[in-house]
Amino acid sequence: LRKIIFDTDPGQDDAIAILAALGSPELDVLGIVAVAGNVPLHLAAANARRIAELAGRGDIPVHAGAERPFLRPLVTAEHVHGETGLDGPDLPPPATALRDGHGVDFIVDTVRAHPPKSVTIAALGPLTNLALALLKAPDIAERLQGVVMMGGAYFEVGNVTPTAEFNVYVDPEAAASVFASGVDLTLLPLDATHGMHATPARIEAFRALGTRAGAAVAAMLSFSEVYDLQKFGWDGAPLHDPCVTAFLLRPELFEGRRVNVEVETGSPLTRGMTVVDYWGVTERPPNAFFVRSGDADGFFALLTERIARLA
Ligand code: BDR
Ligand code: CA
Repeated sequence: LRKIIFDTDPGQDDAIAILAALGSPELDVLGIVAVAGNVPLHLAAANARRIAELAGRGDIPVHAGAERPFLRPLVTAEHVHGETGLDGPDLPPPATALRDGHGVDFIVDTVRAHPPKSVTIAALGPLTNLALALLKAPDIAERLQGVVMMGGAYFEVGNVTPTAEFNVYVDPEAAASVFASGVDLTLLPLDATHGMHATPARIEAFRALGTRAGAAVAAMLSFSEVYDLQKFGWDGAPLHDPCVTAFLLRPELFEGRRVNVEVETGSPLTRGMTVVDYWGVTERPPNAFFVRSGDADGFFALLTERIARLA
C-alpha cells in the first residue's frame, strides 16, 4: 500500500486524479491539502471535500494550505475550470468540515509520523505548500518516498504563456525551491499530458459505468472540452493531473529520463518556464525524472477501471 498526500487546487482534472486514487486499493490517501491555483483557496478547499464525499470518503482529512504564491499575485484559471473550479457535474456543497491546522503543518507532521520513505506527495497544483513544508522541515526531503507532480513543459512549451505551464507559472519561486530541495522528484509535464486526449469515446466509457462517480467524471471531462477544443482543435481535451495517479499505479505506461530541470524566475518574458537539460549539455546534476510521453489507451483504461470501483 503506497501512502500519498494530495496537494491540489481542484480543478476537474485534479478531481479525477483524486477519485482514481480513491478507487485504487494500492493507494492509501492520507489526506488532501488545498492550495490556491485554479481557483482561490476557499473554493479549492471546498472542492477537495466535495470530491472526497463523492467517493464516499468524507473521512479523509482535508486541510487548507497557502492562500497565495510566495511573491506573485495569484493567477487563477476560471476561464478553464468555471467559476467554482469544478463546473460540470452537479455536486452538492461539502457536508464535512475542513480540518483544523494549516495544510503545510499537516504535510510535515504526517511525513514525520510515518516511517522514512513511506509517504509520497502527489502534487497537482502550484507548489507553494510543498515549498513551504520543505523550508520549514528540510528533513522531510530525505524522509519522503518522493514527489510526483503535474507541472512544467519543455518540448511542448507552455499553456498559460508561450513558455510556461500553469502550475509552475503561478508560483515559480516555490517550484524553483522544490526543484532545488533534493527531494526525489518526478515531473508529468505537458509533454506527457498533451498526449492524453479525452475523446468522446473515452468520455462515454466513464458515463457508461452507470455510477455517480462515472457520471461526474464524464461531466467534468465534457466541461473541460469546451476550452481546450476551441483552443487546440484536438479530438479531445488533454487530461493533466490524473497522469500523476496513473504514474503511481503503473509507471510502465510512461517513458522519460532523469535530467536537470531549472525554473526561470527572473525574466518577465519566460517566467515559470521549466528549462530541461534533456540532452545533457550542461554539467548541472539531474534533479528530476522528466516524463516525456505515455500510453493514452492504457491510461484511460486504467482510469476507467479505477473510477468503476467507486461505490
Ligand atoms: C495544470 O493546470 C491546472 O489548470 C490543471 O488542474 C493542471 O494541474 C495544467 O497546466
Ligand atoms: Ca491542478
